[in-house]
Amino acid sequence: MLMKSAKLPCIDFPVNNKTLKRELLGKKYPGHIRHIENAFEAGQTHVFRWWDEITPSEKKNLLDQIAIIDFSLIKKLFNEAVLNPTQTTQNNLTPPQIIAVPKNDAEKEIAYRAKRVGENSLQKGEVAILTVAGGDGTRLGISGPKGTFPITPITRKSIFQLHAEKIIAAQKRYNTRIPWYIMTSKNNDSATQNFFKAHKFFGLNQDQICFFTQGMFPVVDLEGKVLMDSKSSIMMSPNGHGGALVALKEQDVLNDMNRRGIRNIFYHQVDNVLIKIADPVFIGYHVRDAAEISLKVVKKCHPEEKVGIVVYIDGNLHMIEYSELSRKDMCAKNEDGTLKYHAGNIAVHMINISFLERVYQKEEPLPYHAAIKKVPYLGEDGNVIDPKQNNAIKFESFIFDLLRHVKKSVIMEVLREDEFSPIKNMEGENSPATSRQDMINQFGQWLRGSGVSIPTDSHGNVIGSIEISPGFALDEEELKNKVDKQLQFNGKLLL
Ligand code: UTP
Repeated sequence: MLMKSAKLPCIDFPVNNKTLKRELLGKKYPGHIRHIENAFEAGQTHVFRWWDEITPSEKKNLLDQIAIIDFSLIKKLFNEAVLNPTQTTQNNLTPPQIIAVPKNDAEKEIAYRAKRVGENSLQKGEVAILTVAGGDGTRLGISGPKGTFPITPITRKSIFQLHAEKIIAAQKRYNTRIPWYIMTSKNNDSATQNFFKAHKFFGLNQDQICFFTQGMFPVVDLEGKVLMDSKSSIMMSPNGHGGALVALKEQDVLNDMNRRGIRNIFYHQVDNVLIKIADPVFIGYHVRDAAEISLKVVKKCHPEEKVGIVVYIDGNLHMIEYSELSRKDMCAKNEDGTLKYHAGNIAVHMINISFLERVYQKEEPLPYHAAIKKVPYLGEDGNVIDPKQNNAIKFESFIFDLLRHVKKSVIMEVLREDEFSPIKNMEGENSPATSRQDMINQFGQWLRGSGVSIPTDSHGNVIGSIEISPGFALDEEELKNKVDKQLQFNGKLLL
């Protein structure tokens, strides 16, 4: 080991750092020399900039962090994404077959039969919920995990509580127990778990909720140098929702699911407040067709909408970013004038567990994608800099890249106003304000279905505020059986 260290001075060694040089060439950290060399060889010597100033335990933490970072992978990804990006042009695109929203009695009957299959699977305890909640929620910009955000229109229940109450209601309805797996990251795991503890798991049994953490990946600047978030710590961010794939296996989650008799996972993102958790129709189609992964999609609003599109490329299912679609494909129309490629991905999936096990055998990791972001970091003078523009690249893997392995799938179209309202930003589109309005509009729609008159403005938004707890009604049908038909809406209603 120490022999190797003789090479070090010829690598881009921080010249002004005599302590580091002495310590590395000495016997202090023999187990770390190889990792330090890796950092040096990848041109990341600046991580030792404050070596003289940090404490022995901070030094150890920094070295431990360096030991688990794959610097050559960072270099490779940076080169691929930034220095030599390959332009992806998509050939041989075809639209996928989609189960449309039922319009007539025959289609409704098919959906009803699927629902029975889904209900049966739920009753047998074969379905688990997987909520991915490991993201940093940078755009929303709150201090805690996104799921803790107070969201419901009147009582301001948190997003996590809203999901928990939907699970409790589904359990009652199907007389079953639905295990709930929540993926967090090192950045928000303890805050998430503490939130659940402080709220007594929102009435769920503690042992049916399983938290597991995804992997992290270093954040680099626009030149590929890793950013520091303190003098002794390299900035890491969660490695994308695709990190679930590795985490499910490495953290024994899949085994836990198998032990509980789970066959299929209902996957969703924490920030979609209209999510129909454990939707039996969707589960039913997936089970009926023995699908490997199933997807819910919504119709794209207009050709330029920035939403990923589900398509076949050379006969294989793919999700492609809107930016990867050529202008021609983006605007391509069917004979009836509708968009040809309209299946917008809303990140609601059913995932078969045996399929996942087959994917693990292939030992093909999901690819990383680069995203340019604006991220505060520690500047050369040791002070935190809050940049005005994008300064950083995060590398993330995406769960939908699993689609490349899929042979059997179900793609089910749903109405956006019924099922999709994500919270991404603090203001403007996809913000708490739009999500609350979407919830109110949905509740208004349900009430109208029960004959209650609900006023709307010129944009179709309900005038006033409505909140219907999942414990009272999970959907329009259930509400019909419970609501007083003589109800007069006076601008505010909490059920
Ligand atoms: P987004 O890509 O919208 O990221 O995640 P985000 O963290 O919520 O927000 P920004 O981009 O930092 O502003 C979509 C979903 O995927 C989860 C998020 O928690 C959210 O439910 N996610 C994202 C993870 O679980 N892990 C990740 O590494 C990234």
